[in-house]
Amino acid sequence: MDDKKYVNAQITDKLDESSLPVLDGTLGPAAVDIQTLYSRHGLLAYDPGFRSTASCKSSITFVDGDKGVLLYRGYPIEELAEHSDFVEVAYLLMHGELPTPAQRHEFDAAIGMHNLLHEQIMTFFRGFRRDAHPMAVMVGVVGALSAFYHDVMDIRNPEDRLRAAIRLIAKMPMIAAASFTYSAGRPQRYPNNKYDYSSNLLQMMFGAPNQEYAVDPVLARALDCILILHADHEQNASTSTVRLAASSGANPFACIAAGIASLWGPAHGGANEAVLKMLMEIGSVENIPKAIARAKDKNDSFRLMGFGHRIYKNFDPRSRVIQQQAKNVLTHLGKNDPLLDIAMRLEEIALKDEYFIERKLYPNVDFYSGILLRAMGFPMNMFTAVFAVARTAGWVSHWLELQHESHGIDRPRQLYVGSTLRHYPGERQPKLVRK
Ligand code: SDX
Repeated sequence: MDDKKYVNAQITDKLDESSLPVLDGTLGPAAVDIQTLYSRHGLLAYDPGFRSTASCKSSITFVDGDKGVLLYRGYPIEELAEHSDFVEVAYLLMHGELPTPAQRHEFDAAIGMHNLLHEQIMTFFRGFRRDAHPMAVMVGVVGALSAFYHDVMDIRNPEDRLRAAIRLIAKMPMIAAASFTYSAGRPQRYPNNKYDYSSNLLQMMFGAPNQEYAVDPVLARALDCILILHADHEQNASTSTVRLAASSGANPFACIAAGIASLWGPAHGGANEAVLKMLMEIGSVENIPKAIARAKDKNDSFRLMGFGHRIYKNFDPRSRVIQQQAKNVLTHLGKNDPLLDIAMRLEEIALKDEYFIERKLYPNVDFYSGILLRAMGFPMNMFTAVFAVARTAGWVSHWLELQHESHGIDRPRQLYVGSTLRHYPGERQPKLVRK
């Protein structure tokens, strides 16, 4: 028997001093409550990457990765994508129920009241280099909102919290659009409340102040669908970042800026831009086998971007909806994007390959979203910015939810593997005396 020690945990109804309670949720796996593991047993739980860790209780979104199920407050994502709109979904995520007509009218009015930026914030954009990545601009500008609203909000006041959440949802489209128009040297358009939320983002992105902008309803619907699909996804990296920052009592604008920074990574929300760069690098259907070989080669850092997911070991239900939207928009615009052909052939080949089958690697939400956004005219470096606009609804909903938690600041521990105690040596090299 080696000298290693093991904890043999069985689920039982026998209660003794070593027992840890098992908590049942309404859906999904049960959780062992290990909050007293250290205080009672002097043990820590080791879970790098949090593959087996429930960081909180939440009622907002449920994901069943094995079945490819995604529910927002119990409603299937496919039904919301087909029948709802992003503003209604944002209300649902924040409040837990679909709005009544009166509540929807009030929510629309609140967003319309808060969708402008303080004029002094507009000067922030001019402080960035013209070629700054829009995500760098968004992190900076959203964080800077703290300087404009922190003294008019008390996060202990529910009304102030709700107003801050609405301000963030309302202002993100203008911040995203201004990040792009500034880099393109184009005059910034302002929101116009005659447009709905997604149409406003389109007109601020692609309109010009000297002419009317005719919203293409097919593009507005496709963008609204993208925003719905990206609105929330339980405790993903960026949402967990927001929750961790919020647990210290930081103001919501700073917390959302932290979430934007985390979303930017290519392993997370930055993957949609990385997918398009990968498809461009592959260049043709003939090069797919080489790309798949590289993705399987452990000595090659190349990965099939847009494939795989920490939770989905089946199809990401969002990727199917986005693929269909991409086809609809390309057909509507009479465009043919060879990258869509490469993506679909890549998916077809990969899903028959043992390496991907064995590891349950399927296309995720990012695999087709870049193709759809590109078809709509969004530049590649704006893809993750659009993701951030959508995910703000989820981030603020989790921020609101955690205000009712009572476990205090999130402070993970570690398994220390560094130097044991040692003392500073007595005689040391004489300090260099500079003449
Ligand atoms: C999003 O968490 C969320 O909910 C995120 C998100 C949301 O809505 O918030 O859904 C949005 O971020 C989607 C994911 C976008 N990222 C990408 O598409 C980047 C490419 N994907 C991989 O980087 C990866 O799949 C992750 C990061 C998404 C998941 O990584 P995991 O769960 O840590 O998986 P892993 O690295 O442990 O991989 C398991 C195996 C490994 O091989 P072995 O060591 O077992 O031999 O699968 C391989 C990996 O090498 N693998 C891949 C691969 N992804 C995993 N091999 C090739 N190409 C890939 N894309």
